[in-house]
Amino acid sequence: MSDPVRVDVHAGSRASTIWIGDGVTDRAGALLDAHNVGGKRFVVSSPVIWRLHGERIARGLGGGDPILIPDGERFKNLQSVSRIYEALIHAGADRGSTIVAVGGGVIGDTAGFAAATFLRGVTLAHIPTTLLAQVDSSVGGKVGVNLALGKNLVGAFHQPALVLVDPLLLATLPRREFRSGLYEVVKYSMIASRDLFERVARDTKAIFAREARVLVPAIVESCRIKADVVSSDERESGLRRILNYGHTVGHALEAVTKYRRFRHGEAIAYGMLAAADLAVARGALADLERQALARLIARLGPLPPASDLLIGEVLEAIRRDKKVVDGKLHFVIAIQIGATMTIDDVTEEELKAVLERLGLKRGDP
Ligand SMILES: NC(=O)c1ccc[n+]([C@@H]2O[C@H](COP(=O)([O-])OP(=O)(O)OC[C@H]3O[C@@H](n4cnc5c(N)ncnc54)[C@H](O)[C@@H]3O)[C@@H](O)[C@H]2O)c1
Ligand SMILES: [Zn+2]
Repeated sequence: MSDPVRVDVHAGSRASTIWIGDGVTDRAGALLDAHNVGGKRFVVSSPVIWRLHGERIARGLGGGDPILIPDGERFKNLQSVSRIYEALIHAGADRGSTIVAVGGGVIGDTAGFAAATFLRGVTLAHIPTTLLAQVDSSVGGKVGVNLALGKNLVGAFHQPALVLVDPLLLATLPRREFRSGLYEVVKYSMIASRDLFERVARDTKAIFAREARVLVPAIVESCRIKADVVSSDERESGLRRILNYGHTVGHALEAVTKYRRFRHGEAIAYGMLAAADLAVARGALADLERQALARLIARLGPLPPASDLLIGEVLEAIRRDKKVVDGKLHFVIAIQIGATMTIDDVTEEELKAVLERLGLKRGDP
C-alpha cells in the first residue's frame, strides 16, 4: 500500500481528519486509536454494503457486529435513526462511544445524525463507500434525514473525528453510482481547479477503470477543496455556498421528478450546464469554457432526459429552495474553469431562458 494522504478540516466545532489511500480501511482500528477515537465502537451500515465489504472492514476494525439499516433514500428518515438509538442502547453504548458509519451518503447522513443527537452527541467516524460519499457527504460535518414533506429538513452540523477514504471499496460500485460521484468531482474542478478539470477530461477512461494513479489524486484533490472551503466557513454563511455550484437548478430537477429519475450527481450535471449558460449570457464566462464543460459532461456518459420537464414547474421548485434567503436567490456561477462568484440578482426571465436552452419544455404545471 502506498502511503495514505492526510487532509485536515479545521472546523470551529472540532478537529476532523481525513485519511485517503487504497487499503486504509485495513488499518481502521489502528487509525482510530491513533486519533484517540476510543470508547466502544459501533458500526452502522446497510445489508448490501456489509455483504460486500463487511468482512474486510470488521477485520480492519478488530471485530464487532454492525447495526444494519436498510439502504436507499427512502430509509433516510427518523425511523431509521430510532432503530439506531435502540440498537445502541441494547448494546450498552454510552457517552464515550463512537459511531462508525460505513456506507454511502444515505448511511453517513443517517448514522451521522444519530451520532449528533444520541445522548446529546457522541463521536462519529466515517468510512464512505460511494464516490459521492468519499468526496462530498462524509466531509464537512453536515448530517441529517428527510421528512415526508421534504429532503434534508432535519439535521445538524456534527464534524466526524475521522474519515477513512478507501478507494478500493469503489471496485464494487455500479457504474452509474460511480458516475454520479464523478459529477461532484467535476463541480470541484469548476469552482477551484482547472488542473483537476483537465485531468478528469484527459483520464476519463482510466478513472472509470478505477486506476489508482488517477482516481486517488482526484479524490484527494476533491477532499482538499471541500475541506478548505468548510474550514473557512463551517456553517455556510457565505463562502461555503460555492459548494452549491450547479445545485440551484440541480435540486429543482430532483424535486420535480420526486428524486426518482436522477441520481444526485446527474441532476447537478444539468445544473452546472445551466449555470455555465447563464454565466455566458451575462458575459461573465467565455463560451469556449462552457463548451469544454459541456464536452466533459457528455464524455462522462448519458444523462436521463429532462426535455419533458415543464419550465414553470422547475422555476417553482427553485423558488422554494433553501438557497433563497430573505427572498433573494444566491446563484453561483463560474467565471472561468476553476473560479466562481456568487450573484444575487438573477431574474426569472434569465432562468427561464436558460432552462429553455437546456431543452426543457415551455409551460406551467
Ligand atoms: N451530508 C452532506 O454534506 C451531503 C452531501 C451530498 C449528498 N448527501 C446525501 O447523500 C445521499 C446520497 O449518497 P450516495 O450517492 O452515496 O447514495 P447511497 O448512499 O444511496 O448509495 C447509493 C447506492 O450504492 C450502494 N453502495 C454503496 N457503497 C457501495 C459499494 N462500495 N459497492 C456497491 N454498492 C454500494 C448503496 O447500497 C446504494 O444502493 C443523499 O441522501 C444526499 O442528500 C449529503
Ligand atoms: Zn451535491
